Amino acid sequence: MKVAERMMRIPPSGTINMADKAIKMEREGHEVLHLEVGEPYFDTPEHIKKAAYQALKNGFTHYTSSRGIFELREAISKDLKNREVEADPNTEILVTPGAKHAIYCACQATLNQGDEVLVLSPSWTTFYICIQAAEAKPVEVPTEEGYSLNEELLKERVTSHTKLILINSPNNPTGGVLTRKEIKVIADLAKDYELLVLSDEIYDRLVYDNFKPTSIGSLNEMRDRTITINGFSKTYAMTGWRLGYAAANKTVIEAMQRIQQATTTCPASFVQMAGLEALMGPQDCIERMVKEYNERRKVIVNELNKIPEITCPTPKGAFYVFPDVSSVKMTSSKIVEELLKKEKVCSTAGSVFGSFGENHIRFSYATSVEIILKAMEKLREFVEKLN
Ligand SMILES: Cc1ncc(COP(=O)(O)O)c(C=O)c1O
Repeated sequence: MKVAERMMRIPPSGTINMADKAIKMEREGHEVLHLEVGEPYFDTPEHIKKAAYQALKNGFTHYTSSRGIFELREAISKDLKNREVEADPNTEILVTPGAKHAIYCACQATLNQGDEVLVLSPSWTTFYICIQAAEAKPVEVPTEEGYSLNEELLKERVTSHTKLILINSPNNPTGGVLTRKEIKVIADLAKDYELLVLSDEIYDRLVYDNFKPTSIGSLNEMRDRTITINGFSKTYAMTGWRLGYAAANKTVIEAMQRIQQATTTCPASFVQMAGLEALMGPQDCIERMVKEYNERRKVIVNELNKIPEITCPTPKGAFYVFPDVSSVKMTSSKIVEELLKKEKVCSTAGSVFGSFGENHIRFSYATSVEIILKAMEKLREFVEKLN
């Protein structure tokens, strides 16, 4: 049976593709070192799990409002206030099964056929796919090393079709961040050209070297034109729970809610109770995780830079490194395939993240130091054998 033509616009996920190959190798008895998926190595903190058990015991197992339970929206609103973002829990927040679904709903709710979306690139693949699924066009804007903004290039790409600017700081795949100054430039451009901004801030608690992220929605006159996306997956090691949210103006949230109502209804009820505990309960779990990620970040950057053919800038956020491998003289997809086949190290090709990702590969260091060290040793051997 033939599938719909629109499916041509939706390629399989580059990361999950590699993970599937690795799983097949494991089934054949090989030990594979996984540095491909953005999956926290930590278990979900115990108090959050307990809140879910308790909700189940209390019979909190039915549909909720398709916006999410009010208490959780209220807690999200308070949490956003810490970032100086104002969002009314009654009308301006939608709780979704994962940030990914929030991004999908936001694109469906705001984009028309032929609209252009400026995407700072390299960038997470889901953004391109959600934009294309809404029949709009992603327009990549190359960033400089470490996701730093090239203002000229951003301005040059604005046309009469531009509807939205999409930013993701800290960024997947580079681990780079946008400074407050850069965020202000983007906000001014959005105001000048009457554009919306979708800001995916899912890694905003995972930052290093005392970096202070700025939420674009907190800036003057940006509240109404910003869709802020965030979630629980990365901050609280809750990837499998599927819980995220969007904050935006009432009209956008209403449109997004209609999509959610028609598709998933609401996130799982007891998962929302776990999310409430995550936000209201002790926060020291984040500090502990960030401390450990920071150790791993130092180890992986150091090991990568010991390999003469590889240069790796130090990322300021998230848990990814995006080293330049152009001296290896192979496409990034060939490198990751060969690295998996020969050394059983699983990573992601830079080309997966858009036209400006080539010559790089992405490693996630949300894994153990032991695995990082083993993988880097194998990578070194792999590159040496090529010479
Ligand atoms: C930038 C970005 N946003 C969102 C997500 C996914 O969030 P969730 O698990 O809440 O759907 C990821 C996961 O890799 C990501 O890298």
